Amino acid sequence: MILSPSDPVHWDPETYNRFEAERDRAALDLLVRLPDDLQPRVIWDLGCGDGHHASLLKRRYPAAEVHGLEQSGDMLADARARDDRVQWRQGDIADWTAGQPVDLILANASLQWLGRHDQLFPRLAGQLDSRGVLAVQMPMAFETRHHSLMREVAEDGPWAGTLRDVSTIAPLPSAEVYYYLLAGAGAEVDIWSTTYLHALTGENAVLTWMSGTALRPYLTALASAPGLKSAYLAALEEALNRAFPKRSDGVTLLPFPRLFLVARAR
Ligand SMILES: C[S@@+](CC[C@H](N)C(=O)[O-])C[C@H]1O[C@@H](n2cnc3c(N)ncnc32)[C@H](O)[C@@H]1O
Repeated sequence: MILSPSDPVHWDPETYNRFEAERDRAALDLLVRLPDDLQPRVIWDLGCGDGHHASLLKRRYPAAEVHGLEQSGDMLADARARDDRVQWRQGDIADWTAGQPVDLILANASLQWLGRHDQLFPRLAGQLDSRGVLAVQMPMAFETRHHSLMREVAEDGPWAGTLRDVSTIAPLPSAEVYYYLLAGAGAEVDIWSTTYLHALTGENAVLTWMSGTALRPYLTALASAPGLKSAYLAALEEALNRAFPKRSDGVTLLPFPRLFLVARAR
């Protein structure tokens, strides 16, 4: 795997995709809420990962110009290999502007990695053409038990000094705040939340789940200290397996809350 300066947190497509069906469910639940009368000419998938959804949108709207923006070189390499009809670009959502009015912006499980949502969301809504749609899904993971354990274990061991200043996912503002921000930017807003009960299989399922996403900043920070990394992961594995025991049928249940919003420019 290659780490570049534009790839501050190292993402691993293979680990991320280990629970593809569970991760994809929320994106599909979001996409079915796109308005039926939407006929997009320009689409952007922000934080497109391995390009799965941008490619799906190209199939659904073949006449549209579809773009995928992604920070991670490894994720983008998979996206490029997946579909050459999509225009892929490496870059940071924080600096992104489309350069032309956009009919559909999709951001599935990406915007929670960025700060200053009070500025970001009105800015994204401002890129929409008339009747354009911003469709976003974000995990509300900060308050969950598995995220608390990730942080608690990070603070308690010889790895604590290395992990102290690593920024991980921050708590999200409330749904009301997003409504206020987007309605204030002139959009019609539909917001809802859902808690999925993921039935994960395999050994150390919750740790494996977290290794694909939430743990990426810690794993990146510990990459040059393999001993500390394995010790931290062993301590976290034990804490997670205690909190989320594997059932006798081999399933580990993980409750996972997510926030959805579909905002349409007037
Ligand atoms: C949890 S994955 C979701 C990927 C994809 N949207 C999906 O639904 O499968 C989050 C993705 O957002 C990307 N990402 C995070 N922060 C970003 C930023 N500031 N700019 C661009 N991409 C970013 C990560 O590299 C990662 O591929």
